Amino acid sequence: MQILITAERIQERLDELAVEIKQHYREQPITIVGVLTGCLMFLADLVRRLDMPVRLALIQASSYRGAVTRPGELQVQAELVPDLRGRHVLLLDDILDTGRTLGHLVGQLRGLEPASLRVGVLLRKEGRQELPLEPDYCGFRIPDLFVIGYGLDFNDEYRHLPHVAVLPAATSSTTDRA
Ligand code: XMP
Repeated sequence: MQILITAERIQERLDELAVEIKQHYREQPITIVGVLTGCLMFLADLVRRLDMPVRLALIQASSYRGAVTRPGELQVQAELVPDLRGRHVLLLDDILDTGRTLGHLVGQLRGLEPASLRVGVLLRKEGRQELPLEPDYCGFRIPDLFVIGYGLDFNDEYRHLPHVAVLPAATSSTTDRA
């Protein structure tokens, strides 16, 4: 499996992102809202670098189900969305691909009247974005490949890998659902 971003490089980049985040919020309390399930590694490693007041929340929003590498209909579990009124909110997701997931969530969270809303992603796929959404924090720009590891899955496998790798073409092409 081709490793695209090593575990070491991810951890180094998280150090840099944590500095950017702390400099922006300057000790103001924030609520980090992670998008399940792909954000888990990113969120866990990042928040442990933030020595500032932080609340954590998780929401479920998924457009991929099972052994597919193409998005389906977005499903958001509304009952998980926390009370964010007046809070500084940082929405974290694993990857910005078409932007549909984050675009939808940003719209939904803005409706909850947070004091501010910023977006952070570990990865941003080049050349795929359909919605004009500019993340405030971005770990890495990657080419248009289906990637796995460090939270990202294929059919719920590979999330535990400490690096980001490219899913072998044989796996994705034989199991894609049109
Ligand atoms: P959109 O297109 O809405 O996609 O920006 C965001 C969500 O799609 C999933 N996604 C991927 N998952 N490898 C994955 O494991 C990928 O290369 C990939 N591209 C998109 C992911 O759940 C993300 O939150």
